[in-house]
Amino acid sequence: MSEPRKILVTSALPYANGSIHLGHMLEYIQTDMWVRFQKHRGNQCIYVCADDAHGSAIMLRAEKEGITPEQLIANVQAEHSADFAEFLVDFDNFHSTHAEENRELSSQIYLKLRDAGHIATRSITQYFDPEKKMFLADRFIKGTCPKCGTEDQYGDNCEKCGATYAPTDLKDPKSAISGATPVLKDSQHFFFKLPDFQEMLQTWTRSGTLQDAVANKIAEWLDAGLQQWDISRDAPYFGFEIPGEPGKYFYVWLDAPIGYMASFKNLCDRKPELDFDAFWNKDSTAELYHFIGKDIVNFHALFWPAMLEGAGLRKPTGINVHGYLTVNGQKMSKSRGTFIKARTYLDHLSPEYLRYYYAAKLGRGVDDLDLNLEDFVQKVNSDLVGKVVNIASRCAGFIHKGNAGVLVAGNAAPELTEAFLAAAPSIAEAYEARDFARAMREIMGLADRANAWIADKAPWSLNKQEGKQEEVQAICALGINLFRQLVIFLKPVLPLLAADAEAFLNVAPLTWNDHATLLSNHQLNEFKPLMTRIDPVKVQAMTDASKEDLTASATDTGDAVPAGNGELAKDPLSPEIEFDAFAAVDLRVALIVKAEHVEGADKLLRLTLDIGDEQRNVFSGIKSAYPDPSKLDGRLTMMIANLKPRKMKFGISEGMVMAAGPGGEEIYLLSPDSGAKPGQRIK
Ligand code: 2FM
Ligand code: ZN
Repeated sequence: MSEPRKILVTSALPYANGSIHLGHMLEYIQTDMWVRFQKHRGNQCIYVCADDAHGSAIMLRAEKEGITPEQLIANVQAEHSADFAEFLVDFDNFHSTHAEENRELSSQIYLKLRDAGHIATRSITQYFDPEKKMFLADRFIKGTCPKCGTEDQYGDNCEKCGATYAPTDLKDPKSAISGATPVLKDSQHFFFKLPDFQEMLQTWTRSGTLQDAVANKIAEWLDAGLQQWDISRDAPYFGFEIPGEPGKYFYVWLDAPIGYMASFKNLCDRKPELDFDAFWNKDSTAELYHFIGKDIVNFHALFWPAMLEGAGLRKPTGINVHGYLTVNGQKMSKSRGTFIKARTYLDHLSPEYLRYYYAAKLGRGVDDLDLNLEDFVQKVNSDLVGKVVNIASRCAGFIHKGNAGVLVAGNAAPELTEAFLAAAPSIAEAYEARDFARAMREIMGLADRANAWIADKAPWSLNKQEGKQEEVQAICALGINLFRQLVIFLKPVLPLLAADAEAFLNVAPLTWNDHATLLSNHQLNEFKPLMTRIDPVKVQAMTDASKEDLTASATDTGDAVPAGNGELAKDPLSPEIEFDAFAAVDLRVALIVKAEHVEGADKLLRLTLDIGDEQRNVFSGIKSAYPDPSKLDGRLTMMIANLKPRKMKFGISEGMVMAAGPGGEEIYLLSPDSGAKPGQRIK
């Protein structure tokens, strides 16, 4: 037997100013399954995480809520911890970046970098809010696009024409926080000299630490040449003051990855058997893996290894990058009810359904994963209930009734148990490589074989025949043993099912190596249904509830794109918008000149609209309510006339008509009072 490996694993630290959603859960579930697999195999594997608690977004949000940042992050930490626990994400420690360990480690690392000559200082000029007395990050400045003149655009790019620019190029700039006109002001900033590590990064990123697609992306950045990284922010800022530099704070992304170390340090201080240095020293033989989303690769595959190298510490063994979550083929959307919070999911469905679905679809690449809600119901019901649990429920009754719950000795189909045994290394290899989809496919292949064998033997028919009872017991005993093997293989994904199965099987917690043995002459406990089918009504209730969550959304001025994804600040049903945003929408009275079916489209009608001086072609998803489109001809409606044209499968849609209702047959096209003329602006 080889020595157990020592492995430290992290997932990205979620921001402490918003709720966890199913996009986040893709990462935590994936990491948790990998960690559970390592533990199942007997390795020492430690999984740490923390809330990412610093930054101006958190400071401003606390201010808005009338509480201190410390109170805000404590509340959010309690919420996050509960969500993770219920999704069976089993951290060894869930800490916070706003913690003493992190202050100390961040200071130590910074001082090592500074003393080794990797920190530069220089003055930079930035917009400053004279009312709030703070420097403004780009996303806190709004103004008129210098290129197309659209008002109310954020600091560095225009949503209308797509231009990118410096905030100082904006016309009529305003602070998005106070509304004041910002002034330009100089301030000394601290920079991490990333170019010092160009060569090391060139080698390290090509040494098997990254997936190929990620390494290729990084190579483009490396070829373009690295820039120094601004790691300081001026007061007021919620974070750690830079040692010896009053009024200067570490930028949130400097102390966030150090938060991985701090969480582990906090754990080591409580567990004397863990040696912090043995995991972080330059010559450490422990493995270190960070699981992250593709939006934060630069921080983890460039800045972080460079910081570690510069501070004389070990670098990660691997950065495991995953793609985003889409729901029903699209970006998660609040208005469609597919921006689903972890809590909303848990209110309606069991965590193991989602864990299995994610496992069944997660490969080792960086592709996005689609949670198709219909497929989700179908796959979970067919695989887990129809294949795996079905084996136990088919066999248990005969054993309890015919043999007082005792599994007889023997092996009724050695070719089958050998096939199970032979499959184990390949399943383990797939888990190890994070190819959960392959692991699940292989396990379900075994479940299919077990079910086919039982169906062929048909113990339910034999049981009715005289003198066949022994055979029935032999078949069912093997059935239960095969079920036990499947549970062993699935345990990293389905820990609750495994615990319930262990109770039924009357065995100690199963480990991977148990797959090599069979139970014989063994007393079972009472069989209770191990998993129920997903009722699609509950999925619908979850999406309905997600629509209702709209106003409760916590994330708004986030410091960066969240680890998952979704429409955050830009949600169309955000509770409040500035008048200017409303005024930017050009609403017009439109005459439906012609409404017609679109060949091949289930939901769309093609509308030819007259808006006074021009005609527009608009595709609208209202077919289910207007099966006879000709009835719409000649009718007045309202349209958004300045919506950027959208290329759709069937052509370009030049605007949008306005309708109310939940969908299906209940869609009600809006109309103005009679007398309104096509093209009139709606105000
Ligand atoms: O993108 C995010 O959500 C960040 N809070 C992730 C931080 S990961 C680590 F570096 F701390
Ligand atoms: Zn513009």
